[in-house]
Amino acid sequence: MEHIPVLLNEVLSFIPDGNEKLTIVDCTFGAGGYSRAILEKNPNISLIAFDRDPYVQKTADQFKKEFGNRFTFIAKPFSTLKESLNKLKISNVDGIIADIGISSMHIDHAERGFSYQNDGPLDMRMSQDGTSAKDIVNLMGEEDLRNIIKNYGEEKAAKGIARKIAEYRLTKEIETTTELRKIIDEHTNNNVKSVMRVFQAIRIAVNDELGELNATLQQAVELLNPKGILGIVSFHSLEDRMVKQFMNDVAKEKSFSRYQPETDEKPKDFTLLTTKAVKPSKKEIEYNQRARSARLRVIRRK
Ligand SMILES: C[S@@+](CC[C@H](N)C(=O)[O-])C[C@H]1O[C@@H](n2cnc3c(N)ncnc32)[C@H](O)[C@@H]1O
Repeated sequence: MEHIPVLLNEVLSFIPDGNEKLTIVDCTFGAGGYSRAILEKNPNISLIAFDRDPYVQKTADQFKKEFGNRFTFIAKPFSTLKESLNKLKISNVDGIIADIGISSMHIDHAERGFSYQNDGPLDMRMSQDGTSAKDIVNLMGEEDLRNIIKNYGEEKAAKGIARKIAEYRLTKEIETTTELRKIIDEHTNNNVKSVMRVFQAIRIAVNDELGELNATLQQAVELLNPKGILGIVSFHSLEDRMVKQFMNDVAKEKSFSRYQPETDEKPKDFTLLTTKAVKPSKKEIEYNQRARSARLRVIRRK
C-alpha cells in the first residue's frame, strides 16, 4: 500500500503562502508526501529532506530530477540536522517539519521485520545497519529487556513477557516476527494490544527513536529564522509528551496571578501555534487507519 501522508493539510497550513523565498527542512522524507506538497505550494521554496532509510533513495532521485536545485536530499539521521546543514553552508532556515512515525513502506514490506501481522526476519532497522531487533531480543539481559518493554511499550505484562523471551531463547534463537509474536501471545492470552506494544518498544529501542527526537528539537529551534516554524507529527504518547514539554518550555509564557511575586523570567522566543495537539479528523481516520494516533504540534519563532 502506498504511504498516505498524515495530517498533510494541517501541516501545510503552517507553511507560508505566496512567493516568498524560503528554505524548509523535511526531516522525514519517506514517500515524499510532505516534501512534494511543500515544494508545490510555493515555487520559491527550497527544500532539504532527510531520511536514514536507504529504501527511499529512489524516490529522492526522482524528486531531484523533477525539482532540480530546489531539492536536496540527505541520507542521514535527522539528529545530524545542524552538522549536515552546516556542511551545505546553511545556518538558518524558515521551517522544519518532522513526521516521525514509521511509514507504510516499513509495515508493508515483511522482510523489514516491523510488522507483527506478517512473517519476516526480526530486523526493524530503518537505516539497515547497527543493532537489529534480533540482536536485542536474543542478546539483551532479561532486566534490560523488561525495562524496554515497560518504558517504551508501556506494557503492563513486561516482566512476564521478558521472562518468557529469556526462557525461549535458552533453547533456540528467536529469528522471526512470528516467533516473537507467538511468545507474547502465549503469555498474554492472545492480547494483540500487548503484541503491538512490545513490537513498538523494540522498534523504538532499535532505532533510538526518543534519542533522535530529543537530540533534534534543540538543534531545530537554534536554526530557525524569525517567523520560522517547527512542526512535529508524532504517533505515540512518549514522543508527543517529549514534544509538548519541549514546546511548552520554549514557547509557553507563565501566567502570573496577582498573588504571586513577579519573577525575572524573560519573554519566550517562540509562540505556540497549537495550544492543543492537532488530531486527524474522523474523515481522515476513516480513510487512513494509520493516522489515528497522530498528533501535530507547532511553534513559531517571534
Ligand atoms: C512516517 S514516514 C514520513 C512520511 C512522509 N511525511 C510522507 O508524506 O511521505 C517517516 C520517515 O522518516 C524516516 N525516519 C524516521 N526516523 C528518522 C531519523 N531519526 N532520521 C532520519 N529519518 C528518519 C523513516 O525512515 C521514514 O521514511
